[in-house]
Amino acid sequence: MTILVTGGAGFIGANFVLDWLSAGDEPVITLDKLTYAGNLESLAAVADDHRFRFVQGDICDAALVATLLAEQRPRAIVHFAAESHVDRSIRGPGEFMRSNVDGTFTLLEGARAYWHGLVGDDKSGFRFLHVSTDEVYGSLEPGDASFAESHPYRPNSPYAASKAASDHLARAWHHTYGLPVVTTNCSNNYGPFQFPEKLIPLVIVNALAGESLPVYGDGRQVRDWLFVGDHCAAIRTVLAAGRCGETYNVGGRNEIANIDIVQTVCRLLDELRPSADGPYERLIRFVADRPGHDRRYAIDASKIERELGWRPAETFDSGIHRTVRWYLDHGDWIAHVKSGAYREWMSRHYRQAGPTP
Ligand code: NAD
Ligand code: DAU
Repeated sequence: MTILVTGGAGFIGANFVLDWLSAGDEPVITLDKLTYAGNLESLAAVADDHRFRFVQGDICDAALVATLLAEQRPRAIVHFAAESHVDRSIRGPGEFMRSNVDGTFTLLEGARAYWHGLVGDDKSGFRFLHVSTDEVYGSLEPGDASFAESHPYRPNSPYAASKAASDHLARAWHHTYGLPVVTTNCSNNYGPFQFPEKLIPLVIVNALAGESLPVYGDGRQVRDWLFVGDHCAAIRTVLAAGRCGETYNVGGRNEIANIDIVQTVCRLLDELRPSADGPYERLIRFVADRPGHDRRYAIDASKIERELGWRPAETFDSGIHRTVRWYLDHGDWIAHVKSGAYREWMSRHYRQAGPTP
């Protein structure tokens, strides 16, 4: 028994692999292209674990996907690999269409051929878990009901549109071919190993360096924040018990405006690593808004709570405290990301690479 995780060197994927190996004995193979967002240093703790295998490769590479599935014979694919940053999708949408749409298509086709050749329990037990986002539902006004799974798709950014397209492909591969697909749509994650282009790690890393903390527009946009470990637990739960063809929304019921997030992080840093130059809030700068910026996201997670019994373990207070503490304790990880040295990790430290681990 083994599972294949795509995008396992990214933020959520790495947290998932680490959690998976600490929660049980089942091996995991990670397929990751190692784009700028892939960081094998995040997986350093399991680099020598015999249950962990890493393969550097692109989910758009159909031959690689077919070889990997045939050789490794996973019982499930957990599909995280994607371009994930909205601002990058606005500057250059092409890579988002390639990895998120073509990549998911290629993976679904590879999974379909592999699954077709399985028999008995191997076939009925196989799962393709497609990891997606609440951004596919578009933007809410204040007072609107939270996103339920039945909410219409209204993606507003190139990133959200590419994820929406991939969700539709996953749905169609189940409906037409019977591929046992389950999809999760999660809200904003935060926690260890997040690349400091996203709001929370950006604020921590910039504040520690005495650099400005950019807040887009009026800073009153609202996101629903979930600690990454709770997302990983939700994915494990859906993999174990989710119904094929269903989607499950995952969220923390933590609707918080961006400016409040930034101020909270500043106050935690004031407490844990005070600056001689004064409170970190002095570094906050309101800057031009993100084009097409969604005003509010909120997830109704009652389906996964009711059907599968999942609930977040962290409050926002406990999760953000753990997160800030983690970044303070991992100065090397931050330094290597900032210098680009994390991209050399493969050649410096890694034994396993290539399509045949
Ligand atoms: P990330 O950008 O940190 O990591 C993405 C990983 O995918 C990287 O390791 C990258 O190298 C890899 N990758 C990208 N393109 C690839 C390709 N063509 N082939 C193989 N590997 C490739 O992203 P993340 O924040 O960890 O998000 C993971 C998934 O979860 C994404 O699908 C994202 O849409 C979804 N999601 C993220 C959040 C969030 O708040 N971060 C919330 C909900 C859903
Ligand atoms: O909702 C789930 C999504 O959350 C995921 O699907 C995406 O992969 C993930 O990147 C995240 O998208 P956001 O655009 O919400 O995350 P980001 O951290 O980029 O921004 C959070 C909010 O903070 C958003 O309203 C924009 C704002 N922001 C962001 C940055 C980087 C700022 O005000 N200043 C900044 O410098």
